[in-house]
Amino acid sequence: MTPEIEVDNVSVRFSSKHATTSALRDVTFEVAPKGFVSIVGPSGCGKSTLLKLIAGLLRPSAGELRLRGTPVTSTHREIGFVFQKAALLEWRTVRRNITIQGEMRDLPKREVATAADELMELTGLTDFADAMPHELSGGMQQRVAVCRALLHKPSVLLMDEPFGALDALTREAMNVELRHVWRQTGTTIVLVTHSVAEAVYLSDRVVVLTARPGRVAEVLDIDLPVHRDYSDTMRSDEFGKKTTTLRALLGSSHAGNHD
Ligand SMILES: Nc1ncnc2c1ncn2[C@@H]1O[C@H](COP(=O)(O)OP(=O)(O)OP(=O)(O)O)[C@@H](O)[C@H]1O
Ligand SMILES: [Mg+2]
Repeated sequence: MTPEIEVDNVSVRFSSKHATTSALRDVTFEVAPKGFVSIVGPSGCGKSTLLKLIAGLLRPSAGELRLRGTPVTSTHREIGFVFQKAALLEWRTVRRNITIQGEMRDLPKREVATAADELMELTGLTDFADAMPHELSGGMQQRVAVCRALLHKPSVLLMDEPFGALDALTREAMNVELRHVWRQTGTTIVLVTHSVAEAVYLSDRVVVLTARPGRVAEVLDIDLPVHRDYSDTMRSDEFGKKTTTLRALLGSSHAGNHD
């Protein structure tokens, strides 16, 4: 089966008048269709850069990225993006913050309205469709951002530390909900996170990067059942094993290669 995403020997260097920064070096991994892959690694190791490459917002200095076998050469409609901050438009209602995605892409109004209704239903926002962003909690704002990113039914959802600003309990609730959204929509997800527990609970595979320039230190397969009750998962042997391994890898990756 052709992978949904292939990152093939990718390196990125940023050059300015003053310096050249090597951000990623020879990074290779795959994401299966409908897969859920998390990327973890020390600050500055190139995680956000990697998401931008997959989205086609940035070109690699070497290597290639492919989406269902086709090289990524520019931005494409198969991608939805969720950032750390929800970045909602304060003067638009929840519904209109979601439908803006359709307006920007010139999608048929009726299709957009139906998709927005379905996504709000899926994420428990239906009763808040006409609320303004300032009336929402942080978790709800991030739900709106997820709905907005999924409106045009992209095959891939890229998420850059989407829950980093939330308190621990809200974050757990969002994790449970994201698994639900992932299973219901069949979207392939690539998530950047600093949370080891989040990476293991959510993913079927975790890519660990070294300190800059980011290289793949390890790819961990997570052997947890598809249906993951939060507390049962936290108590499971596999969860304990994989979080311990990840913490050890992240601890040692800080001593990674610098140049
Ligand atoms: N447009 C750019 N021009 C020059 N250097 C850049 C650019 N974007 C990123 N970098 C550099 O590339 C490296 C990787 O940056 P990136 O934002 O991908 O890291 P990150 O892993 O997402 O970090 P964090 O966990 O702090 O978000 C950093 O050293 C950063 O300074
Ligand atoms: Mg980043």
